[in-house]
Amino acid sequence: MRDVRVLVLGAAGQLGAELCAVLADKHEVIGATRLEADITQLAQLKEFVERIRPDVIINPAAYTDVDGCEKDREKAFLVNAIGARNVAIAAREVGAMLVHISTDYVFDGEKREPYVEYDPPRPINVYGWSKLLGERLVMEQNPRTFILRVAWLYSARRKNFVKTMLRLAGEREEIRVVHDQRGTPTYVGDVARQIERLIETEAYGLYHCTSQGSCTRFEFAVEIFRCAGYEVEIDPNGPVRLIPNPKSLTPNPQDLRPITLRPVTSAEFPTPARRPANSVLENFMLKVQGMDIMPHWKESLKAQIPKIKEAISG
Ligand SMILES: NC(=O)c1ccc[n+]([C@@H]2O[C@H](COP(=O)([O-])OP(=O)(O)OC[C@H]3O[C@@H](n4cnc5c(N)ncnc54)[C@H](OP(=O)(O)O)[C@@H]3O)[C@@H](O)[C@H]2O)c1
Repeated sequence: MRDVRVLVLGAAGQLGAELCAVLADKHEVIGATRLEADITQLAQLKEFVERIRPDVIINPAAYTDVDGCEKDREKAFLVNAIGARNVAIAAREVGAMLVHISTDYVFDGEKREPYVEYDPPRPINVYGWSKLLGERLVMEQNPRTFILRVAWLYSARRKNFVKTMLRLAGEREEIRVVHDQRGTPTYVGDVARQIERLIETEAYGLYHCTSQGSCTRFEFAVEIFRCAGYEVEIDPNGPVRLIPNPKSLTPNPQDLRPITLRPVTSAEFPTPARRPANSVLENFMLKVQGMDIMPHWKESLKAQIPKIKEAISG
């Protein structure tokens, strides 16, 4: 019997859509897009939630354009802080458990080691500050809350680093990728399964929830192309040459030329928002409670690349 009713907000997003798919195996899932439930509108949101009366609310809805947040601070705080608070209020009013999603960008990146949950956050961009305030407001409103800090998400849906790399491969002869930002690529399906595990418990609190291992953006790109079937020629003193393997590439291998993948510094690749140099998270609180089921990032990437390639070509 499906006795747990789960409401997923931001259901058209990368994580939201995957949560709806994964949780539907065991639970009754209602997915709501921004048009159906706008988290910035408290009165309407409360009405919507009261109508559904979920046992669990999961909130991956956010303004996730990191550079956009830098330009539109009001929208960033309205969605990522006030919106998060609104969801927590609506959850409290119906007695629902809440899962709120936060980010690795709450840290400044100065630490040499992976960040743990008891490290003090210190964001260096507007997105990070807006998400940090969201964490605090959510905890004030609803103690029955899990906050999960995730990072470098990708899926076959919407825009993400993996899809951008594969698209650029069809358009450019040289791709420049930063080599001085370290983090952990994380497949949304793995986060969804970790959430499925957590909501069976009452182990409320703050969690780091990323895949195992870490890499720079440049190393991530190399692995994406390796998994996509490119031969990778590494020159220790220079850029990487990627040679397409016609047997494993779709859709038009004849159009794909060899590509040069060039490592660059963040200073050579300026963006409106600064990014932390190190945002590797350790899933410390999951580990100490024996609940960390997140796989290594390379394992998940290898499994997902065929599906992502199919989504791009389809
Ligand atoms: N992507 C990453 O690499 C990354 C890294 C660290 C943390 N995170 C966090 O992980 C969560 C999920 O990220 P994601 O990559 O799945 O994001 P995403 O694909 O950008 O999806 C976010 C969703 O939120 C919706 N949304 C925006 N404003 C809303 C509002 N006012 N009311 C209701 N829904 C609204 C968006 O709808 P519209 O498209 O219609 O606006 C979109 O469907 C977010 O909390 C994000 O901050 C992501």
